[in-house]
Amino acid sequence: MCGIVGYIGSQDAQEILLKGLEKLEYRGYDSAGIALAHDNGITISKEKGRIADLRKIVDAPGLATVGIGHTRWATHGAPSRLNAHPHQSSSGRFTIVHNGVIENEAELKRDYLSKVALQSDTDTEAIVQLVERFVNEGNSTEEAFRLTLQLLHGSYALALLDAADTETIYVAKNKSPLLVGLGKDGNVIASDAAAMLHMTDRFLEIMDEEMVIVKKDKVTIQKRDGSEVKRAEFIVELNENELDKGTYPHYMLKEIDEQPLVVRKMMEAYLNEDGKLSIDDQIIQAMNETDRIYIIACGTSYHAGLVGKQLIEKLAHVPTEVHIASEFSYNMPLLSKKPFFIFISQSGETADSRAVLVKVKALEFPTLTITNVPHSTLSREADNTLLLHAGPEIAVASTKAYTAQVTVLSILANMIAKDKGIENLSYELAIAASTMEVLCNEKKKIEQLTQQFLTASRNAFFIGRSIDYYVALEGALKLKEISYIQAEGFPGGELKHGPIALIETGTPVIALTTQANVNASIRSNIKEVEARGANTCIISMEGLEEKGDKFVIPAVQELLTPLVSVIPLQLLAYYAALQRGCDIDKPRNLAKSVTVE
Ligand code: M6R
Repeated sequence: MCGIVGYIGSQDAQEILLKGLEKLEYRGYDSAGIALAHDNGITISKEKGRIADLRKIVDAPGLATVGIGHTRWATHGAPSRLNAHPHQSSSGRFTIVHNGVIENEAELKRDYLSKVALQSDTDTEAIVQLVERFVNEGNSTEEAFRLTLQLLHGSYALALLDAADTETIYVAKNKSPLLVGLGKDGNVIASDAAAMLHMTDRFLEIMDEEMVIVKKDKVTIQKRDGSEVKRAEFIVELNENELDKGTYPHYMLKEIDEQPLVVRKMMEAYLNEDGKLSIDDQIIQAMNETDRIYIIACGTSYHAGLVGKQLIEKLAHVPTEVHIASEFSYNMPLLSKKPFFIFISQSGETADSRAVLVKVKALEFPTLTITNVPHSTLSREADNTLLLHAGPEIAVASTKAYTAQVTVLSILANMIAKDKGIENLSYELAIAASTMEVLCNEKKKIEQLTQQFLTASRNAFFIGRSIDYYVALEGALKLKEISYIQAEGFPGGELKHGPIALIETGTPVIALTTQANVNASIRSNIKEVEARGANTCIISMEGLEEKGDKFVIPAVQELLTPLVSVIPLQLLAYYAALQRGCDIDKPRNLAKSVTVE
């Protein structure tokens, strides 16, 4: 989703900003722009499409050492050059970039800007026009910015330039992510650290409702009331090379292949001095005190949460509910007496999940975030964090974060289960990691299956029972988001209650069977759809295989099957998108980091 960068120092701001925006591309966007401050004013370049398109039109008159930049994912107003950021006030004095949504935009425009001729359809323009209005009323820029912030309802990460003082970038944040980076000869701002790693690895967290005055050699953080806040910097330990896709054609394929390594890295990270997989005592104690666990997540992380529920309930016998964050937020169920909340989020920035975190924190319930991004908002705000150690996940379609989430959930469930858990979890995870490797080497076979079942199809169904149903949901999500084939996941037993009406001659049905206790029943469901003309692709587990199954997965511990059964589904989605010529790493309309509710 929208991304922000800014630079103030003595180097060429244009190149720093463009490079920063390129690093933010993975978040998803439809237009981009930069504003550069020169002696004679501010030059804006913006374009619909990719950063490469923006590069072609940037036309700065000489070296600029101050600037702000933006990638936009449309919320208010269509993706267009006109609506792309930066936006300027009527006089051209103030220029702004914004990530977030201003919920009271209509009221602000009506109450304060009725006489202003607005240029764009965006909520953002209201902010920059308000600053100009307050300056015209006699306030300093800093004071006008503060007065404006006091009027805003909603989410924002903002960077503002004033053509009359090009030695300052005014910055503010509420709900949307934003960091300030401290460089050697200048300072930067960015929606995430990855965007500015080419400039620094030293960052300052900015909290909600704070305002920051960023100068070349000084950063001042203030509360809403103007009082100064002292904050220690932190170092981001991220290697810029990890952000590269190397010789792979797509990040998604690279990330699929990294999965065995990620499981091994996680086992290393969660090993205690006795050589046992273990989790911080404080977390386990809090979880032992709960009467019900609530897992909150979205998309793929939600699917990992469903697997987590199965693991926790089967191993530790603690009742567990899994909720889609955006639903929970506005329709909170009746909670148990001693709830414990787990937030699962690859990015740690998902606004829907964060909205729930804010609510349950206000109720003083214990919280744990499982995330891939240290220092992310959800990590900072929850009582505890478990990291995924998956390395940066760049492809919009989440793959290695899912398997990392399932891995950490298996360790967590095993810890709470004590002696009822999986007997030698390290060994079982090691087997799963080796099996993942075997599966990643079956690309040719999966590519052929994709051609046979999916490439020319307009829809596809994924079915499974029990834990396989959860993986079926994930397989369907992967396929739809990157290949645009309409794909749905169903529990096998539910087909006859409605979805079977959609089956016609040739409809592809991908069926998973890895669980002995439901093998016979899912096979009956497969027969039912075959009888109605479905083209079935059965993916089974060694020991349960039958003649005619298209793909047999080597056996792993039965609760850890999602770690392996998801891989053929990820590869099916990848090859379907490849064969259909889709933009695999940046699927249409989607963003990697979904920072608006
Ligand atoms: O960063 P998060 O895990 O919180 O993101 C949640 C979803 O937006 C994400 O999993 C999304 O569904 C992916 N595109 C799936 O591949």
